[in-house]
Amino acid sequence: MTSIVNTSLSSEANIEHDAVLDADIQFTQPLSQYALNPQAVFLTGATGLLGVYLLDELLRQSQAEIFCLVRAIDEDFARQRLVSHLQSYGLWKPEYASRIFPVIGDLTEPQFGLDDALYQQLAETVDVIYYSAGWINMLYPYSRLKPANVLGVKEALRFAGLVQTKPLHFVSSIAVFFNDIHPEDKVLKETDIPIYHTSLKGGYGKSKWVGDRLVASAQERGLPATIHRPTRIMGHSQTGALNDNSELLPQLLKGCIKLGKYPAWDIEVTMVPVDYISRTMVHLAASPENFKKAFHYFNAYPIRWLDLMSLVQAQGYRLTEIPYEQWIDELKQRIDSQDEQYSGDKEFYSRLLLALKVPHYLFYKRPRFDSKNIEAGVQGTNIQCHKIDEELISNYLHYWQKSGFCPKPDQ
Ligand SMILES: NC(=O)c1ccc[n+]([C@@H]2O[C@H](COP(=O)([O-])OP(=O)(O)OC[C@H]3O[C@@H](n4cnc5c(N)ncnc54)[C@H](OP(=O)(O)O)[C@@H]3O)[C@@H](O)[C@H]2O)c1
Repeated sequence: MTSIVNTSLSSEANIEHDAVLDADIQFTQPLSQYALNPQAVFLTGATGLLGVYLLDELLRQSQAEIFCLVRAIDEDFARQRLVSHLQSYGLWKPEYASRIFPVIGDLTEPQFGLDDALYQQLAETVDVIYYSAGWINMLYPYSRLKPANVLGVKEALRFAGLVQTKPLHFVSSIAVFFNDIHPEDKVLKETDIPIYHTSLKGGYGKSKWVGDRLVASAQERGLPATIHRPTRIMGHSQTGALNDNSELLPQLLKGCIKLGKYPAWDIEVTMVPVDYISRTMVHLAASPENFKKAFHYFNAYPIRWLDLMSLVQAQGYRLTEIPYEQWIDELKQRIDSQDEQYSGDKEFYSRLLLALKVPHYLFYKRPRFDSKNIEAGVQGTNIQCHKIDEELISNYLHYWQKSGFCPKPDQ
């Protein structure tokens, strides 16, 4: 099969060009009769953080069969990936087995890498698409991230229009707004269009912007699609579960705990528990008035870094505040230390140091957002975003202690 990845067309200069949806992607087929109450869902990203909670939510809130696109060598391995991923988050139930169907494929391939027969069969069967897959990487340029974050979206949109029109619920990112043209005090509404500007931060942000705009074009062409833009996604609000801790914030928290010191930053930190997003997305997908809209997922109560450190200390960690430069020096000393007790952690300290050398959203002064569409959409339910408070941070730290990611206090 020919690859749809054409790196010669992937340079930064082509970003706006890449956001133009192919003319042959149209949504003229009748809408699936089960668009609001799906019998068959196609889910991407189920082996990721948000995807596994969407899978769980869909299994609990519907009777649908869930077809999960998974990268794997064979079906057994794909199934094993899904089951062990659900298990690792404490979500697995044996009765789920008969409703989860792994589809071995890759978003960067035409037809997701599926043969014609299976692709056609899925196009006829699937009622709704949830697109949570993405390649999150703050170091790579746009061209490297384009196959997964742009071409995959186009493939999903093409699939959405085939045989029967399937609503598509797309996970974008609030990063589509991170450029220098928004005045600091401007509140960005869900109805605001993320305008392209060359100052758009990072290859990842650019790739998400293109994906976001492609889905918006599909909305204009008649696809009942929703666009979901989260800020930083963190673990489950009650269980604290977060197994992939590669994002900078968990790494930093661990670094501060291990050093017993934290930098005296004057920054604001935000995070959204994953269960708030998965619950909200599945709920919103059941009402046609939400189609063709965008939704902003952010914490209404972001927290100052120093207040976050107080919440960490309230869990029993004794931490000292020091200037950032000194903190970095201490990190370097751990990396260079000959002391046996630090030898196992050198790679962790080195990666943390490297991550702090590149620009990161954590240090970007965000505009303010509103979430009127979500507020209207979840009215009458008990869905709400957990505050960043002592309970939430305690849940996260206890989970990390149990999973071995973080040492317990005084260890
Ligand atoms: N995490 C955040 O803080 C955050 C914030 C805003 C927006 N988002 C967006 O939210 C979505 C979900 O994020 P997440 O944290 O759940 O991500 P994640 O844990 O890194 O999971 C990414 C998922 O995408 C899949 N994937 C990547 N490339 C693929 C490909 N070529 N073909 C098929 N599947 C592919 C991965 O499969 P493998 O397991 O095979 O790698 C995995 O299942 C992403 O679109 C991300 O851009 C995330």
